[in-house]
Amino acid sequence: MAKSVASYVRLLATHEILPTGLFRVMVDSQAYLVYFSAGKFHAAFDRCPHADFPLSSGRRLENCVVCPMHNGMFNLSTGESVGQRNFGPLFMLPTRIVDGYLEAQVDTGEAANGWD
Ligand code: FES
Repeated sequence: MAKSVASYVRLLATHEILPTGLFRVMVDSQAYLVYFSAGKFHAAFDRCPHADFPLSSGRRLENCVVCPMHNGMFNLSTGESVGQRNFGPLFMLPTRIVDGYLEAQVDTGEAANGWD
């Protein structure tokens, strides 16, 4: 059986990812949400798991993001829905840092938090 090779997209230089920011990065028509949380850089698809609204336009509350559409709240480190209603986890991606850039793995078909 052939072993698959991981594929990554380069998103943003880590020095551009401000600690309290939410950044939307477009690569090949795909929108990614990039941020720093709990001592790590993270990447997710930039869409709310409830109804696909872009979370980059949301509001940060410490280690969480609040979706502006229906106020869903998500933990930015784990991706868990933490508000009063459970909207399911964020679509987080495995990441790595190469030459000072955050890259997200995009070929697995699986998200870092188990969403698929
Ligand atoms: S679209 Fe985000 S909470 Fe509904």
